[in-house]
Amino acid sequence: MSRVTLHDASFEPFISEEELNTAIAHVAGTIALKYADKDPLFVVVLNGAYHFAARLLNGLPIACGITFVKVASYHGTSSTGKVTGLIGLDQNVEGRHVVVVEDIVDTGNTLEHIMATLAPMRPASVAVATMLFKPDAYRKDIPVDHIALRIPDHFVVGSGLDHDGAGRNLPGVYRITQQ
Ligand code: IMP
Ligand code: MG
Repeated sequence: MSRVTLHDASFEPFISEEELNTAIAHVAGTIALKYADKDPLFVVVLNGAYHFAARLLNGLPIACGITFVKVASYHGTSSTGKVTGLIGLDQNVEGRHVVVVEDIVDTGNTLEHIMATLAPMRPASVAVATMLFKPDAYRKDIPVDHIALRIPDHFVVGSGLDHDGAGRNLPGVYRITQQ
């Protein structure tokens, strides 16, 4: 791994592909045990979670469903301000054990919106699996159940994460540098 430049910013190697894979395999093992015989529904949040989802779910030795959503964020025309919803949820989640699959949880705003959208659909349970978690930036009380790696509050790219559309395809994870 060596430094990369994406748009205006420089990034340095931070987490190797091997370290990431080991951490993801650990989460997969935990989920396989917890959800054996529960037929969970994995709700993968695009775009960024595609890499984590493929690594996590490929070969997971349990019966499960997998679906993909996008978080829609737009400003309402009234004073309601920012409105958020899930686009593409094509499965009935009522009575299902749902696992939301995220690339990274930062402040938790996105996660809060996703949870608020899913709750009225009456799933049997909702848990969260994320590739990366920034504990120092997290501002919510929602438990983040399954975390591959915890990282400091730095901006990162790679393995699905982007900087203004660039860097998703980098293997491993890179951290922004100041110079
Ligand atoms: P949150 O709502 O603050 O938790 O952040 C959620 C979204 O911001 C993530 O799903 C990412 O799309 C993006 N994000 C947060 N931190 C990073 C980062 O370090 N690199 C790339 N995207 C990030
Ligand atoms: Mg995301």
